[in-house]
Amino acid sequence: MEDRRHGEGEMEHCSKKPFFSSFSPFLSLLVLLPSLVLVFLVCKLDLEIPWRIGFDKDLSSLQNSQLNSFSNIISSPKLVESVDLDPKGQSFLHSIEESQKTVAKDKEANGKSATPGISKTERYSKLKKLEEKLGRARAAIREASQIHNLTSIHHDPDYVPTGPIYRNPNAFHRSYIEMEKLLKIYVYKEGEPPMFHGGPCKSIYSTEGRFIHEMEKGNLYTTNDPDQALLYFLPFSVVNLVQYLYVPNSHEVNAIGTAITDYINVISNKHPFWDRSLGADHFMLSCHDWGPRTTSFVPLLFNNSIRVLCNANVSEGFRPSKDASFPEIHLRTGEIDGLLGGLSPSRRSVLAFFAGRLHGHIRYLLLQEWKEKDEDVLVYDELPSGISYDSMLKKSRFCLCPSGYEVASPRVVEAIYAECVPVLISESYVPPFSDVLNWNSFAVQIQVKDIPNIKKILNGISQTQYLRMQRRVKQVQRHFVLNGTPKRFDAFHMILHSIWLRRLNIHIQD
Ligand SMILES: *[C@@H]1O[C@H](CO)[C@@H](O)[C@H](O)[C@H]1NC(C)=O
Ligand SMILES: *[C@@H]1O[C@H](CO)[C@@H](O)[C@H](O)[C@H]1NC(C)=O
Ligand SMILES: *[C@@H]1O[C@H](CO)[C@@H](O)[C@H](O)[C@H]1NC(C)=O
Repeated sequence: MEDRRHGEGEMEHCSKKPFFSSFSPFLSLLVLLPSLVLVFLVCKLDLEIPWRIGFDKDLSSLQNSQLNSFSNIISSPKLVESVDLDPKGQSFLHSIEESQKTVAKDKEANGKSATPGISKTERYSKLKKLEEKLGRARAAIREASQIHNLTSIHHDPDYVPTGPIYRNPNAFHRSYIEMEKLLKIYVYKEGEPPMFHGGPCKSIYSTEGRFIHEMEKGNLYTTNDPDQALLYFLPFSVVNLVQYLYVPNSHEVNAIGTAITDYINVISNKHPFWDRSLGADHFMLSCHDWGPRTTSFVPLLFNNSIRVLCNANVSEGFRPSKDASFPEIHLRTGEIDGLLGGLSPSRRSVLAFFAGRLHGHIRYLLLQEWKEKDEDVLVYDELPSGISYDSMLKKSRFCLCPSGYEVASPRVVEAIYAECVPVLISESYVPPFSDVLNWNSFAVQIQVKDIPNIKKILNGISQTQYLRMQRRVKQVQRHFVLNGTPKRFDAFHMILHSIWLRRLNIHIQD
C-alpha cells in the first residue's frame, strides 16, 4: 500500500466544541435549541445507478431520458406492495434473512442472550412499527414522483426543489420531508477518541471530521434509544486510524484491520442490532483514500453496511445501490467564508482552469497535454507566484476536476462554491447525490480519452447553454455548503438523505 496524499493539505483536528467555543454558553444554547426541537427518523432504495460517464452533447434532453434509479424505483409498482425492489435487491434481502437465521441459531447454541434490557417480543414489535412507517414513506414518495406538472405539492418555508438540476424534484422533496419525519440515528458510544468520535475538520478530509462531530453533538436526527433508531452510526475516523496506527512507509495495515475487527466484535457482542441486520442498517463514512480498504477487514461491513465514501470508485467495490458517494470538501481554514461566489458569467475571462500536482494517471495525461500550452485552457502543476487559486476559480468559465490518486476531487465542490461550471474527468466515479441530482444539467463530464479534446468540447457549448449551466451551478450550491450549524438542504442533510434512501431500500426483520 502506498502512502498517499502526504503534504496535500494540513491535518488538523476539530476541537471538542468546534463551532461554539467562541460563543457564550447562553448563545450556544440559543443556537442549539431550535435544532433540538427537530425530531427525525429513517429508510433506503436499492438503486443500480446507470450513471453515464461522458460528455453529453444534448444536455437538455437528459432530464427526461435519465429518470434514474430513484424515480425508477419509486415508480415501480412493486414498491408499494413489497419492499423488495428488484431481483438484485431481493437476493440481497434474501441472503440477509438466511444469514440472520444462522446467526440466531449460533447464538442459541452459545447460550448468548441477544438482548439486554427489553424483551425480544417488545423489540420485534418496535421494529415492525418502524418498518411499517417506512412502507408508508415509500408509498408517499412514489406518489409524489408521479406528479410532473407541479413544482411541488408541498409548501416549504425554506426551499422547494425545482428544475432540471433534479432528476425528480417532487420525489426528492417528498423523500426529504419523510426523512425529517422519520429518520432517527443511534450513534454507538464504544471506542475512544481520537480514532472514534472525532476526525479532521480542516484539510481535504474535512467532511469526515465535520460529519462525525455533528453526529456526536446529537443534533442531527440522533436518538439515545437504539430501539427507536432506523440507522446505526459507526463513528470511526479512517483519517485518524491511519494517523495513529499506520507507520508511514511501513506498508503494514494490520493494526488498522485489527482495530476495526475488534470494534465491530464489541458492537456485535454488546448490542443486538448488528447481528439483526448483519450490518445492513449500519453506516460508516470516510473521506480518506483508504476508506474502502479499511472496511474490507470486516466482510459484513464491506458487503452489507452503507459506506459513505469520498473514494466512490466502482472498481474498488463501491456499490451505488448500497453505498453513498461523499463529497470531498477542502476546508483549509475549517470555514467556508470567502469561498462562495464568483464573477458573473460575462466577466469570466478564462475558458478553463486547473492547478494541481501530478497525482495519478489522469492528471498525468492532463498535464502532459495542456500544462502551460494554451492561452484558454490554463493548466498548471504549480501556480505562478502572484496568482491566487481562489480568484482563478472565480473568473474561469469551466473548472477542470480530474481524479487524483483516488476518484474524488475536492475541486468539484470548489468549482460549485466559486460558481464555475465543473468539468469532471474521471473513471468509475459516482458523483455525490447522484440519485437526486442530475449532474449532466450543471456539470460537464469528459472521458479520459477525450482529454486532448477538452478545448474543442468546451468551445462547443453554446453561450446560452453555458449560462443555463452556470445558473444551475448556483442553484445546486446550497446542497454542498457545510454550514457551521447545519441548515435544511445543505451538505449535511444531503448526505443524510443519501443514507436515508439506502435505508428505505431494505427491510429489516427480527
Ligand atoms: C396536474 O395533473 C393532474 C393529474 O394529471 C391534474 O389533475 C391537475 O389538474 C394538474 N395540475 C396542474 C396545475 O396542471
Ligand atoms: C463480499 O462478498 C463477496 C461475494 O460474496 C466476497 O467474494 C468478498 O470477499 C466479500 N468482500 C469482503 C471484503 O469480504
Ligand atoms: C479505481 O480503482 C481501480 C481498482 O482498484 C484502480 O485501478 C483505479 O486507479 C482507481 N481509480 C482512481 C482514480 O483511483
